[in-house]
Amino acid sequence: MHREFADALAAAVGAPNVLTAADDTAPYCIDWRRQYRAAAECVVRPANAEQVAEVVRLCARSGVAIVPQGGNTGLCGGSVPTGRGNELVLSLARLNRIRGIDPLDDTLTAEAGCVLAQVQQAALDVDRYFPVSLAAEGSCQIGGILSTNAGGVNVLRYGNARDQVLGLEVVLPDGRIWNGLRSLRKDNTGYDLKQLFLGSEGTFGVITAAVLRLRPRPGASATAWIAIDGPESAVRLLARLRERLGETVSAFELISRRCLEAVLAHATAFRDPLPASHPWYVLTELEDSGGFESLYARLEATLADCAERGELRNAAVAASQAQSEALWRIRETIPEAQFANVKHDISVAVSRIPALVEGVESALAAHFPGAQSYIFGHVGDGNLHYNIGMADAGATATLMKRSEEVNRVVYDVVSALGGSISAEHGIGQLKRSELVRCKSPVEMELMRTLKSALDPRGLMNPGKVV
Ligand code: FAD
Ligand code: MLT
Ligand code: ZN
Repeated sequence: MHREFADALAAAVGAPNVLTAADDTAPYCIDWRRQYRAAAECVVRPANAEQVAEVVRLCARSGVAIVPQGGNTGLCGGSVPTGRGNELVLSLARLNRIRGIDPLDDTLTAEAGCVLAQVQQAALDVDRYFPVSLAAEGSCQIGGILSTNAGGVNVLRYGNARDQVLGLEVVLPDGRIWNGLRSLRKDNTGYDLKQLFLGSEGTFGVITAAVLRLRPRPGASATAWIAIDGPESAVRLLARLRERLGETVSAFELISRRCLEAVLAHATAFRDPLPASHPWYVLTELEDSGGFESLYARLEATLADCAERGELRNAAVAASQAQSEALWRIRETIPEAQFANVKHDISVAVSRIPALVEGVESALAAHFPGAQSYIFGHVGDGNLHYNIGMADAGATATLMKRSEEVNRVVYDVVSALGGSISAEHGIGQLKRSELVRCKSPVEMELMRTLKSALDPRGLMNPGKVV
């Protein structure tokens, strides 16, 4: 790094916030799944939007690329350097103030580096609810969830991250600050610019703050772990629960037996929630404004009726908050319990989930005998995490070296069913070449046109998305 550039960065953010020693920068230069590791010139940790703008201006002047980084929990290699050209990691972690909460407007204005759990808690403190929830919520940041348009377990009822945003503050690639921190519910004045930055993975600018929508705090929630025969039963059960319980169904997650076994093997603290083994499970959550007893009773009665009709095999309804948390801990541990394998985050229309599983399983059996699928995820959104390994670590490592071929098998089925290769994790470095395959030339051209209009010098997170 040039001395002059280093000095200017230090003047902008304070010398202790420019990390250059390899030991200090290392955690910022490797992704959560340990699939991407590359050195950065340095890691810069500004404290506010003005400092971010100054760093961006300095980078523009010196032709240094910027890799915005939040909690670094992304699963597509978007938040770490690519190793091509001069890159600087811009950590948003110090922009961690909640600037304001307005319970009359039902809004919360958070800086990009606020951790998701911190925002959830701040909402609860004023008797409101911020519904985005995912297993990484103790580390991922608001800027990260907005830049990836994260999903999580409550999309079914509340929508994904994009749907929670009323306004944004963004540092543009030339260092200007766009203040779009509006709290308006309705605003049709021209193009909705904030949408450009939501889900674009830091390739158009750096999000520094957001006005987020809050919801009424649910009075009670009820959780059930349900054994079913397979994906077809899951889709039918979801339809049945929604017929009977309507909008109260806030989460509906599919979990295969193999995923449960991976969690049980991962730590001794976990217990199988049901006495007998079943091939598939659903973990569902209801939220309502009334009390726990009535919600619990409605859920139990509905499940009893479904059991009588043969729509489920068995169910355990959590009788306490502790029991509910124990069930959710199983679900949230799945990503780390089967960490190393060929990972997919695919979606189809909900009704096509059974065809997706059937199609992928038979294609895998034909092309990769012995492959084992770990299938779990947000079946209520038509989104499955379809992770593929082998019976032992060595064979899985060999399979991972053939991940492009595995992807082909999976994505061909997805494509035939009109689905998506990235439902909620984004593109990053991981799916960049796949994007070109699955989008039409017109779509790719529009994406590239936007990229070159907003970031003509290509300094915002290069090598990601397009
Ligand atoms: P990072 O990983 O730091 O960055 C992600 C992308 O956003 C990168 O491209 C980065 O450059 C960009 N970025 C970050 N901050 C900014 C900013 N301020 N301005 C501009 N660009 C920025 N994802 C889901 O959708 N649903 C899930 O259920 C889910 N569960 C997960 C569970 C686990 C255990 C883990 C490890 C991950 C999970 N994820 C899930 C993926 C990940 O948590 C989300 O993508 C999350 O939104 C990333 O947030 P982050 O702050 O860690 O972002
Ligand atoms: C999840 O739903 O748990 C995540 O998206 C993480 C993963 O796919 O591993
Ligand atoms: Zn997910």
